[in-house]
Amino acid sequence: MDLLTAVDAEPLAATDVPAVRGDGTALPGGSLMRGRVLRMRVPGQPLVGKATAVRQAGIEDADLLVSWHADPEVAAFWDGETYTEEQMLERLARSDVDPYIIEHDDQPIGYLQAWFVPREPGVAGLDMFLTPSARGQGFGPDAARTLATWLLGSGGMRRVTVDVDPANERAVQGWAKAGFRVEGGVRAADEHNTHPWVLMVLEQPRVMSERHLMEADRE
Ligand SMILES: CC(C)(COP(=O)(O)OP(=O)(O)OC[C@H]1O[C@@H](n2cnc3c(N)ncnc32)[C@H](O)[C@@H]1OP(=O)(O)O)[C@@H](O)C(=O)NCCC(=O)NCCS
Repeated sequence: MDLLTAVDAEPLAATDVPAVRGDGTALPGGSLMRGRVLRMRVPGQPLVGKATAVRQAGIEDADLLVSWHADPEVAAFWDGETYTEEQMLERLARSDVDPYIIEHDDQPIGYLQAWFVPREPGVAGLDMFLTPSARGQGFGPDAARTLATWLLGSGGMRRVTVDVDPANERAVQGWAKAGFRVEGGVRAADEHNTHPWVLMVLEQPRVMSERHLMEADRE
C-alpha cells in the first residue's frame, strides 16, 4: 500500500499540489495535503502493469543505464547523450527527476523518468525509451500507462505530459495507446527539445478531481 506505509516515498510539499476542481481550476487556499489523501511522489513498491512492471531505479542500475545509453539506437532518442558512470550516478540523484526501470518477465527492458518543475505544480513530465529488442511489442505504452495512472492517482498529479517528436511515429502512436492526446500544434525546437515537438497529455479523470474537491471541502 503506497499511500501510508511506504517509508521511502517522498510526500510532496503542500505547495506542490494545489487542490483542483473538476474543471482544472485551483481551489482557493486549498491543498490536497489538507485533504484526506496523503500524496506521494514515488510509489513504495514496483507498479505492475499488464505486460510490464515499473520500479524505481537506484544506484545499482547505473552500469546498466550507462551501457544502454552507449547504444546509438538508444542515444539517438536521447539527444545523442551518453554518460559516464559518475554522470549517471549524478543523474540518478536528481531531486527533480524520478528514475524508473521498466521490466518484462523480471528482466530490465527500458527506462522511464518522471520530472517536475516548480512553476507547474501538479504536472509531471515523462520521458521513456525501451532497449531496441524490446520495442514493437506493446511494452512502452503498458509501462507509460502504469506509471501515469499511479501519478494521477496516489501520486497526486492532475496532469502528465510528454514532449514527442511528431516524426517519431511509433512514439506518437505509443503514447496515444497509453491514453495521451496531442494538445495544440507542432512547436519549434527550444532549449529542452532539439527537434520540433508536440505536447501529449493525460489528465486526471474528472471523477477523481471531484472526489478530491469533496474531501478538501470537508476539511
Ligand atoms: C516509443 C516506444 C517507447 C514505444 O513503445 P513500444 O512498446 O515500442 O510501442 P508499441 O509496440 O506499442 O507500438 C506503438 C504503436 O506504434 C505503431 N508502430 C509500431 N511499430 C512502428 C514502426 N516501426 N513505425 C511506425 N509505427 C509503429 C503501432 O501503431 C503501434 O501500435 P499497435 O502495435 O497497437 O498497432 C519505443 O518504441 C521506444 O523506446 N522507441 C525508441 C525511443 C523513443 O522513441 N522514445 C520516445 C520518446 S518520446
